Amino acid sequence: MKDTIKSIRGMRDIVPPETALWRAVERRLVSVLDHYGYRELRTPVIEPTALFTRSIGEATDIVQKEMYTFVDRNGESLTLRPEGTASGVRALVENGLTQSLPLRLWYLGPMFRHERPQKGRYRQFHQLGIEVFGLDGPDIDAELILMTADFWRALGLDDLTLEINSLGTPETRARYRQMLVDYFTPHADRLDEDSRDRLTRNPLRILDSKHPDMQTLIAAAPPMSEALDAESTAHFEGLKAILDAAGLAYVVNPRLVRGLDYYTHTVFEWKTRALGAQDTVCAGGRYDGLVETFGAKPTSAIGFAAGLERLIALVDPDTFAEPDALAFYVVAAAPDAAEIAVRTRALRAAFPTAPVTLHCGGGSMKSQMKKADRSGASHAVVLGEDEIARDVYTVKPLRGGEQFTAPLADLPARLGVGGA
Ligand code: HAM
Repeated sequence: MKDTIKSIRGMRDIVPPETALWRAVERRLVSVLDHYGYRELRTPVIEPTALFTRSIGEATDIVQKEMYTFVDRNGESLTLRPEGTASGVRALVENGLTQSLPLRLWYLGPMFRHERPQKGRYRQFHQLGIEVFGLDGPDIDAELILMTADFWRALGLDDLTLEINSLGTPETRARYRQMLVDYFTPHADRLDEDSRDRLTRNPLRILDSKHPDMQTLIAAAPPMSEALDAESTAHFEGLKAILDAAGLAYVVNPRLVRGLDYYTHTVFEWKTRALGAQDTVCAGGRYDGLVETFGAKPTSAIGFAAGLERLIALVDPDTFAEPDALAFYVVAAAPDAAEIAVRTRALRAAFPTAPVTLHCGGGSMKSQMKKADRSGASHAVVLGEDEIARDVYTVKPLRGGEQFTAPLADLPARLGVGGA
């Protein structure tokens, strides 16, 4: 017997009714984006490998261990996108959008990372991302963060915490990197293998280590703020002042360094206590130096991405159901399939936004009514020989109420839908 083919480990199907929840969540997020005047960007899910190695950084976990990279039939090395920022910058430059700055863009779609799957962590996952180009002040940093707070309100999430930090300029980062090397080198014997390796490749990431034996050592490391220059400090203070004025609570976490190399100045993360180790639902920051590495003129940039699987695990599905919405299940109780199809089309035209499911495959009135009940529709619409002969529709409310028979033109008013 042949083995059954299963989906790839860490990748999963999203099937009904969960897909309805995904759509409802996405709809609410997109309505916040529309409200803020952001516009959608769509890019390919596969890109040349070098796009990611150069932007995310050779020494990062993503590039070292997590990319789905393969050689295509032309011998070119390609990678399934592990994130959206690199593609966003490529698209900006390639499409000449640097001529129309500032730009506020968003995207939503699957990303791929070969990480160890666990709760809240998948190998194919979905991000809603934002990238803003051409604005360099703390006002836009604050706009992004306040917009995320509006996302959480729209989704009914009220227990997320915001952490912020500043990584300063590339020069401050280099200075800080040296401070960390000087601090950790004499204690190299207390570092785990990963961190010893990072000491030469990416010392900032040692601060991110969750290893319990290293926490005291990490807590005593010099904070980033000691390396910050005056301009970076002023930018960070400017951001905090806006967040304070808006009444948005935050925690300054001097150990927040992020796992991708392109960040400068502001970085932030939204955390939850409800998901265990995978506790970051949304993360991002400023990356002012990245655009010019694509051959364009220096362009300020900032963005973030939220993990949809994590958000969906947190929301209360009941608050997304629309219990009163009209939905019809057409019971085909006449033998003439053509007549039923035509009347059902007319019903759909009269209720342009209501779901109308036509019963297909025959069966007794009783069994069709049972299906109507199970379908979740609000009303069964019976089309029998009598209804077709008289050109009327019989409407049976499925959640209480009186059955009635009426011509199509009267249905919207009888069902409390204005106009139509
Ligand atoms: P990131 O921190 O790598 O940043 O990912 C952002 C979010 O994507 C995470 O906070 C998490 O919610 C979600 N996520 C990441 N990996 C997984 C996974 N394996 N399974 C489920 N969810 C996951 C970025 O990707 C940056 N491009 C964000 C950004 C945009 N920075 C500037 N612009």
